[in-house]
Amino acid sequence: MEVSSTLAVLMEAERLRAEGVDLIDLGAGEPDFHTPQNVKAAAEDAIENNFTRYTATSGIAPLRKAITEMMSRDFGANYDPSEVLVTMGGKQAIFNAMATLLNPGDDVLIPSPYWVTFPEITKFLGAKPIYIDTEQNDFLLTPDLVSQAITPRTRLLIINSPNNPTGRIISPDNFHRMVEIAAARDVWIISDECYLYFAYPPAVPFTAGQLVEDLRSRVMICGSFSKTHAMPAWRPVTPASRRWEKKRSSWIVHSPQSWTAPTPAASSRSRASALRSTVRPLVPNAACTSSPTS
Ligand SMILES: Cc1ncc(COP(=O)(O)O)c(C=O)c1O
Repeated sequence: MEVSSTLAVLMEAERLRAEGVDLIDLGAGEPDFHTPQNVKAAAEDAIENNFTRYTATSGIAPLRKAITEMMSRDFGANYDPSEVLVTMGGKQAIFNAMATLLNPGDDVLIPSPYWVTFPEITKFLGAKPIYIDTEQNDFLLTPDLVSQAITPRTRLLIINSPNNPTGRIISPDNFHRMVEIAAARDVWIISDECYLYFAYPPAVPFTAGQLVEDLRSRVMICGSFSKTHAMPAWRPVTPASRRWEKKRSSWIVHSPQSWTAPTPAASSRSRASALRSTVRPLVPNAACTSSPTS
């Protein structure tokens, strides 16, 4: 695996800063607002009340329920808490999903430009990244581009909308069509929705959770609190899917004692609290829909 180029930029920026250089680091995707006060307070409260022990591998029940409430309230997408798994960050959710799906020699379709982690995980698993160049289409992934790229070796398509780094958002119709095309050719889809709430009018955010049931079961949604809730160091995420259930025990591992989370159990509780109280205000001026498109 190559060193993460995002982290390489971060380290270079730190080095230059230490030398006194005044710079703006556009490497890591971090919001320009801080972790909200209610989230911090809930973490403090959880620690104070000794909520610091092992938790369920799939995530604590109130958090999983809060995630389903968020999907239902904001997007009209109904999930059962048993379909939601909590991992230590979007990165881990994506890694686990890909590790479950891919065999050495499989092809993975990655729209380009892309978040640098996608090809690294693909190569780590012995699969092959196949890039779909979106620049030719003003950086927008389309059903035609997907259709042309699929071959008998294609196992997985990664959709990332809103996209990092382009910010482009796939319309509900195109999203629907792409999943239809992939499903018809037995290709699985990971929908990386880490930036779901960073959609600004007239664009409307769309989650794969709004797809019709048959198509939805082809898609693994990977979400994250890192950006939407300004919690990049807290390591929470919300992968959700139907019918992936049978594979689940082998692929999503929530490890409360992971070193990446300073107070993991407590932070689980504060995430639940954050979701219950507020989501949208954390991303200023973002658009949000509450009506499903299908
Ligand atoms: C497109 C995309 N997906 C997933 C992630 C992972 O986010 P995290 O592991 O912090 O939840 C990032 C982080 O920068 C990202 O840009």
